[in-house]
Amino acid sequence: MTAAIIDGKAFAEALRARLAEKAASFEAATGRKAGLAVVLVGEDPASQVYVRSKGKQTVACGMASFEHKLPADASEAELLAVVAALNADPAVDGILVQLPLPGHMDEAKVISTIDPDKDVDGFHVINVGRLSTGMPGFVPCTPLGCIMLLKDRLGSLSGLDAVVIGRSNIVGKPMAQLLLAESCTVTVAHSRTRNLEEVVRRADIVVAAVGRPEMVKGSWIKPGATVIDVGINRVPAAEEGKTRLVGDVDFASAAEVAGAITPVPGGVGPMTIAVLLRNALVAAHRNAGVALDEAAI
Ligand code: GUN
Repeated sequence: MTAAIIDGKAFAEALRARLAEKAASFEAATGRKAGLAVVLVGEDPASQVYVRSKGKQTVACGMASFEHKLPADASEAELLAVVAALNADPAVDGILVQLPLPGHMDEAKVISTIDPDKDVDGFHVINVGRLSTGMPGFVPCTPLGCIMLLKDRLGSLSGLDAVVIGRSNIVGKPMAQLLLAESCTVTVAHSRTRNLEEVVRRADIVVAAVGRPEMVKGSWIKPGATVIDVGINRVPAAEEGKTRLVGDVDFASAAEVAGAITPVPGGVGPMTIAVLLRNALVAAHRNAGVALDEAAI
């Protein structure tokens, strides 16, 4: 293996330590803790684990965690009432409605009712527009975490060729916007892209966010490129009845060629919640009118 391993777990820990300091100074300045509210509808086990982890990490960083749980058969109107109450609550700086929502709810409609200045997921169209026009707003957590790892590794990204594989609203599209803002030449590839291997081979930066286990092979990677693997796929393990996590990149072959690569697990994954806490703390400072050097955290 030649590639350096990008340690997202260690990076996220260091970020949380910086956040804890800023959360303490926010509390000293305002007499209240920065607050993050998470709304979970239904009993999806993966979402429950995720929400519990968010709550624990929020408290560990010295912020207030509010959890609202609704049954899977709650009406959309009930959910909208919860969001409206959180919008109006001055103790709540950030609101996250855990996705996916049950099928009878309109996700876009629900997200559109979140106050854009509390939308720490960066999913509201106002924040999507702010990102694409270079205005301050909130940026989705996973792509922002990827940019932090890339800048930590490479310094300036200016002029680099970047390929994003995947065009989701949550990762692919905001990732492309962020890379463009860093002056990369950006290609967004997807399931209809022709000659994907050739497209990937041109790239100094490859961000894989397609949700297809080990799809990107080492032979596709330009020697020395930086590879960011957003995929988290559970596949059968060698041992009967067991499973293991793999990314969208074939790690073993890619690590022979890349300059640096994020592992799965331990790469991008740990960054998402840490960046969520960062966004919530940023929201708290903005909403309370307390100065914060956002670029420094
Ligand atoms: N479900 C899985 N990841 C996320 C996320 O980052 N935000 C929200 N709201 N739901 C999710």
